[in-house]
Amino acid sequence: MPELTKQMKDEIKRRRTFAIISHPDAGKTTLTEKFLLYGGAINQAGSVKGKATAKHAVSDWMEIEKERGISVTSSVLQFEYDGYCINILDTPGHQDFSEDTYRTLMAADSAVMVIDASKGVEAQTRKLFKVCTMRHIPIFTFINKMDREAMDTFELLDDIENELGIATCPINWPIGSGKNFKGVYDRKEREVELFSDTKKGTTQGEVKKVKIDDPEITWLIDENQRLQLEEEIELQDGAGAEFDQELVSRGELSPVFFGSALTNFGVETFLQHFLSMTSSPLPRKSDKGEINPMEEQDFSAFVFKIQANMNKAHRDRIAFMRICSGKFDAGMEVHHIQGGKKVRLSQPQQMMASERKIIENAYAGDIIGVFDPGIFSIGDTLTASPEKFAFEGIPTFAPEHFARVRQVDTMKRKQFIKGISQIAQEGAIQIFQEYNTGMEEIIVGVVGVLQFDVLKYRLENEYKVEIRLETLPYEHIRWIENEELDLDRLVGTSDMKKIKDLKDRPLLLFINEWSIRMTLDRNEGLILSEFGRS
Ligand code: G4P
Repeated sequence: MPELTKQMKDEIKRRRTFAIISHPDAGKTTLTEKFLLYGGAINQAGSVKGKATAKHAVSDWMEIEKERGISVTSSVLQFEYDGYCINILDTPGHQDFSEDTYRTLMAADSAVMVIDASKGVEAQTRKLFKVCTMRHIPIFTFINKMDREAMDTFELLDDIENELGIATCPINWPIGSGKNFKGVYDRKEREVELFSDTKKGTTQGEVKKVKIDDPEITWLIDENQRLQLEEEIELQDGAGAEFDQELVSRGELSPVFFGSALTNFGVETFLQHFLSMTSSPLPRKSDKGEINPMEEQDFSAFVFKIQANMNKAHRDRIAFMRICSGKFDAGMEVHHIQGGKKVRLSQPQQMMASERKIIENAYAGDIIGVFDPGIFSIGDTLTASPEKFAFEGIPTFAPEHFARVRQVDTMKRKQFIKGISQIAQEGAIQIFQEYNTGMEEIIVGVVGVLQFDVLKYRLENEYKVEIRLETLPYEHIRWIENEELDLDRLVGTSDMKKIKDLKDRPLLLFINEWSIRMTLDRNEGLILSEFGRS
């Protein structure tokens, strides 16, 4: 196999592709914005994603987004910092939480978890964390809002360890919080980075660092706080996990940092440490073994998201793909493995800070969006390699909301099936059928409730089909892993419903989580999974 050129190796090595996960309001947007500020991609905080108005500017693609002032799909931001080329994958969080949020994590090489210091681990963080651990990617923790009253530091660390089951290693340690927040103590350098409210974070402030044994520290931080810090550090040194890059790389130890994104404190320190501890583009599994970006010369990528209807006049779609090896050149011809055809990748786009722009080339680690005439599906592989191969598929994530769909005008059956199937193919919704009947009754499952509105809106606008949705009480879905199982003989609970997917694979719906355990108890050998095979 021909060797990668040095230029190509250097380009790939300097790439860092990660997702930021958090519960809504923990400060993900603010932190992202501060990263861009340090990368010089924006001059003033507030200019990119300052809440509703600017979120509009980033992805003003669908009417529904405009109506609600939120972005329905996630985007990717690329910027440069200190020789690194950084790709941040935005994971939609508020009402627009959807299966795309999970899929985005499949394209990342690591994750930054933002936690509100006064709240600890919250529901959405827990869900997203599960997907990260499934992939064993490195996870970094930024405990935000230290300028407000925070939970006790040990309590916060315990919360992460107990709730998420990952060991933590604080790289720095906070000195007070809220009105008494004095800064963070760097455990390795044995120095304090002093907190200052740098014009509420609109510009890059001066960073002042003082060694812990410098006499100056005595008049910068009062004695009580110094004593408390000393005690806490002693306790942590004695009982906490030591930093171990190996464990971090395997996703078993999370380095923890403290700061305040809003006031721009601790953000650059975090970014610098994070970039050196996180991974450059990782190898990916395929049916011909691992594809390592540092060895494989030819371009390869997989589709992880399909964005429909960016231009309402045409029913066009953009397929977002993660490049796993090689270099992408605009207009290049590649094999679309699942389609069994050669395709030309046209109109490649990338998000640079707030703009979408047409790009000429990109490297392993990067995310590009290409024009999709309706041929791609989630998980598809594209490659320029003469030896064809397919990347491991993207799992189907468990929907949490279900509804029965009925057409208002039953004459439009064909359009309805076509529309709903296409929308499902893009991955916005999952469709199921009653176990005993065919397509007469369709059950739709979504990860975030907004997807119901998206479905209704799109069927009406794009396919001229009006529907009624009757929400169902189920909240849990499980795929049946057993190859051979007589579903008629399965002993379930009264709140359980048997359904099947479009490939006739059986699934179970439950209202209560405890019913899942009971069903497992009642049926020896039954294997249920939270993730479906695509
Ligand atoms: P999200 O993307 O995770 O949902 O959170 P986002 O960054 O939008 O932040 C949520 C709220 O928390 C915002 O306030 C933001 O200003 C605030 N915030 C973020 N980081 C910090 C921090 O370090 N300290 C403090 N005190 N607040 C922080 P908001 O009032 O909801 O919005 P806005 O009107 O300020 O834009």
